[in-house]
Amino acid sequence: MKEKIAQFKQVDPQNIFLGNGSDEPIDLVIRAFCNPGVDEIISPNPSYGMYKVSADINDVKLIQVPLRTDFTMDFDLMLATAGPQTKGAFLCSPNNPSGNVLPLSEMKNFVASFPGIVVIDEAYIDFSTQESMKSFINDYNNLIVMQTFSKAWGSASIRMGMAFVNTEIIGIFNKIKHPTTSTISPGTSHEMLDQMEAVQNKHNKSSVKRKRMALELTDLKGVLEIYPSEANFLLVKVNDTK
Ligand SMILES: Cc1ncc(COP(=O)(O)O)c(C=O)c1O
Repeated sequence: MKEKIAQFKQVDPQNIFLGNGSDEPIDLVIRAFCNPGVDEIISPNPSYGMYKVSADINDVKLIQVPLRTDFTMDFDLMLATAGPQTKGAFLCSPNNPSGNVLPLSEMKNFVASFPGIVVIDEAYIDFSTQESMKSFINDYNNLIVMQTFSKAWGSASIRMGMAFVNTEIIGIFNKIKHPTTSTISPGTSHEMLDQMEAVQNKHNKSSVKRKRMALELTDLKGVLEIYPSEANFLLVKVNDTK
């Protein structure tokens, strides 16, 4: 399975960790690198809600740094807000719920400057035209890039998440993970990888539909703003949410 993913994703099989969805490696990062009641993690706000859930469960504080009003991230503010106990940063690109991507060069500078682990959560990357950060996992020993079969592949129920990372961290993850990945998940994902062309067509159709949906929404009364999205959803500001 890892060899097949390696081929498809252009990553060495040794640099692939498979988990029970990507929610599992999110939790593993906190369990492996943070001391409960002492350490903290940092993420922009709003972003994916599981960072807070996993932090709370592990008694680790989550520092939330507000995104700007256009949902771009102030990388300097993130770095300035992190303290000596901030052992992990969770960045989501494209971001859930705003749909925008973080600029590659700024992410790389951030990984180089941040003293702890940096997770780039790319659950929605297949819908985006931006290059994945997975190409840089061997350039930084603190970079973990996460992807999943749950979004573009439409297969959240098989619980197959991927973390692309150096072998040292994979060794740590494998030591502490529960044996949760079932034999069905790799089998099903294997079959899906055999149908790559069909899935790629599906992604392409999603981005066409996203553009059409955005266009049609602009004509609706009460729609104030449609934010640019590189994911399979749109964030829309309306004057009356009900
Ligand atoms: C940004 C992001 N990351 C990770 C996940 C988790 O996906 P899974 O655990 O199904 O792989 C989700 C699911 O909603 C998500 O939105």
